[in-house]
Amino acid sequence: MRRPLVMGNWKMNGRLEGAKVLLAEVAAGVSGLNATEVVVCPPFPFLHLGGVQGGIAFGAQNVAAEAEGAYTGEVSAAMLKDVGCKYVIIGHSERRTLFGESNAVVARKFAQAQAQGLIPVLCVGETAEERDRALTEEVIGGQIQAVVAVAGAAALADAVIAYEPVWAIGSGRAAAPADAQAVPHFIRALVARLSAEVAAGMRILYGGSVKAQNAPELFAQPDIDGGLIGGAALNAQEFVGICRAADTAARKGS
Ligand code: PGA
Repeated sequence: MRRPLVMGNWKMNGRLEGAKVLLAEVAAGVSGLNATEVVVCPPFPFLHLGGVQGGIAFGAQNVAAEAEGAYTGEVSAAMLKDVGCKYVIIGHSERRTLFGESNAVVARKFAQAQAQGLIPVLCVGETAEERDRALTEEVIGGQIQAVVAVAGAAALADAVIAYEPVWAIGSGRAAAPADAQAVPHFIRALVARLSAEVAAGMRILYGGSVKAQNAPELFAQPDIDGGLIGGAALNAQEFVGICRAADTAARKGS
């Protein structure tokens, strides 16, 4: 069985004191949930808080596409490893659209993360326009194939994929559970063509306006193994509620 994963993406929000409080509240709230893996991804300057809270793993929101050198402002995968990160989000739609990250750049970041033993969380998703034009599978297939071309199919065994429809991110309008399930199902089938074993074991998250209230139905879907949470991850009560929903779904064996 795949262990559920709930990951909070704090994006570029908050200040250090608030981050400490949020972390402590989340740690207290999830301490009894052992079926679910709980991860937070704070901004780079707060990653040093990672050693402080037991039971919560840390991830970064981005990583450089190169190993090291003259790349002003970039942070390498090795540096993230040094400060105790376990995960790194790769190819979030905000990175793709606001910072121009192409599929090729995303694939190089994925490979850098894995070379240092970090677990990449590869974000994929279609825009509203692409969905309207029935291009969802083509777009997401392309996003995944670009990574496979660089890192190889076997690399997906040590990775997580987060399906985040761009139109659902920060919109307050999550995908309907059946739509949220359809794409992870497609992704698993796509990966199964490369390796059935990798496909069966790979965790696929849903992200986009997940809240404590809609989490139970989303996490009950057979191909959704947890969530990548934005806005609701900044509120301890909401985030803990989402983690609880994942734990309950895991106990029900879905
Ligand atoms: P949201 O963001 O939960 O605020 O929609 C999700 C994300 O960007 O990962």
